[in-house]
Amino acid sequence: MSPRGKKYCRESRVTKTSVVLPPDANTHGTLFGGKMMSYVDEVASISAMRHARTSVVTAYIDSVQFLCPVRVGQAVTLESFVCWTGRTSLEVYVKVQAEDLRTGEQKLCLTSLLVFVALDENGTPVAVPKVVAESPFEQALFADGDGRAQRRLKRQSLMPESTC
Ligand SMILES: CC(C)(COP(=O)(O)OP(=O)(O)OC[C@H]1O[C@@H](n2cnc3c(N)ncnc32)[C@H](O)[C@@H]1OP(=O)(O)O)[C@@H](O)C(=O)NCCC(=O)NCCS
Repeated sequence: MSPRGKKYCRESRVTKTSVVLPPDANTHGTLFGGKMMSYVDEVASISAMRHARTSVVTAYIDSVQFLCPVRVGQAVTLESFVCWTGRTSLEVYVKVQAEDLRTGEQKLCLTSLLVFVALDENGTPVAVPKVVAESPFEQALFADGDGRAQRRLKRQSLMPESTC
């Protein structure tokens, strides 16, 4: 059981596997980047909701690394978990592995960090449980979480003011 008011990274872990079909491909016969991002946003939002047990919105896509193309007919397996929390915001790590289903060869093809904000039933940001990192990788991601949040704030402060 997780400590009171806190949740382990593993409690928000999501895994999803899909096969890349021709309608999802670009003109190179590989998975369209926008399609991949919709898969990433979907699994990450489920991790965020598993952690917060409230609705969430995507607030910031902090980083996306497309490391190798994924061909039609290959499988993609996405894994995500909450790796850092602020007061009402959550950061989710996602990795995607491509698999050649005939040979079994697997390659890491994407990593990403996304920020979600938990909302109450009125759409107001609401506090989330703190996250507890266990594995060395989770701990390494968590350790730099405050730094990444500060860098995001600094980057945002450089953007032109926008209102909706
Ligand atoms: C995200 C959103 C709810 C934040 O609202 P807000 O009034 O700025 O909220 P607050 O200023 O109270 O900030 C709440 C938290 O969000 C974080 N936050 C707000 N905007 C952020 C951004 N662009 N990037 C990262 N974090 C952000 C704040 O740092 C704060 O985190 P903390 O509580 O952990 O310290 C609002 O900007 C929004 O609705 N954006 C559109 C979301 C959307 O449509 N997404 C796509 C579809 S899901």
